[in-house]
Amino acid sequence: MNTETPFEQFLNQHDEEAWSATLALLLRPTHEVDRNATQIWFAFYPLALFRALEQAEDREKLAQHLLLQGDYELKDQVDSSHKFLYGHRFWPQVKKAVEQHADSFDQPSRASLADQILAVARRAAPEAKQDESLLVGITAVAFMTVQQAGLSTFKSAPGTINIDRKHAKKSPAQILRDRTKQDSQGLLGFLRTVNKQFTVTHDECDDKAKYILNEGQDMAWGAANDRSRDWVAIDPRRMEGPIPVECRSASCGTCWVGVLGGADKLADVAVREGKKIKEFGYIDTAEPRPLIRLACQAQAHGAVSVVIPPWNGQFGRHLRALRQEAQAQMPAPADQDEEARPEIIQ
Ligand code: FES
Repeated sequence: MNTETPFEQFLNQHDEEAWSATLALLLRPTHEVDRNATQIWFAFYPLALFRALEQAEDREKLAQHLLLQGDYELKDQVDSSHKFLYGHRFWPQVKKAVEQHADSFDQPSRASLADQILAVARRAAPEAKQDESLLVGITAVAFMTVQQAGLSTFKSAPGTINIDRKHAKKSPAQILRDRTKQDSQGLLGFLRTVNKQFTVTHDECDDKAKYILNEGQDMAWGAANDRSRDWVAIDPRRMEGPIPVECRSASCGTCWVGVLGGADKLADVAVREGKKIKEFGYIDTAEPRPLIRLACQAQAHGAVSVVIPPWNGQFGRHLRALRQEAQAQMPAPADQDEEARPEIIQ
């Protein structure tokens, strides 16, 4: 018996492609402070991977085959997966508005997914006392969380904010300013051409979550010198500083990060990084400086702000094979009607 609610049924009609078209429509109405963060969140929690695991005969075996490590399931992090979005501050109001929307969704709706997300953000805005543009990204995240975690799991999460009050009070303008702040290179620093140092922020809601690297070093190299905390206790993958690494040669995919600010301060994606990042399944783009990078390959030439996903794996090839299999099973186009065939002129 199908126990899905009408809202879940509606969401489940949307695949990865439909969602990426929806996200493209939502980027403009999303406040600048959350434009990159929203795209990064959707890269961190790919629907196609969720579906592949859900439909696998042996889920554990598939997870092992794809070398998945860490927390990749949204059902275990309904309230926390999005704490790097500015809109996370308004999660209680957005969560409530999404639940109300889901509960009143008893008729087949003609509104598109994008229109429904915008309508829910609009409804939550007065209660959050914010402009709706600040709620669009987090509302889209809430919809996808329902799709992957299920409505009852979504509802049973307490709806808490996972950042401290001091950071919750920051304005979008302050955060955008922080992301573009340049490191002082000291007196006469403008004359320096070598030995410049830059800051990498790896959690915008923690003043101490920063490390320094030298001009031209890759982000993982700089992170290895940061012994300020017991990183392994925080995340067992963090054996050498705050950024999880294994190979340092673009072979394992452990070190992927999302770039919230300063993507233009990183060197262009080189051939190997570009090829491997697609193979792992993290992002498929020809952009020279995308929002998802491999920290062990991305060299910094200025201050950047990144977010570290709580998991990693290698699933790009598997998902591509599944897509090809599905396409091959699609019925071939019906033969053209005899009469409709063009006449062959000899
Ligand atoms: S550490 Fe293996 S890909 Fe970067």
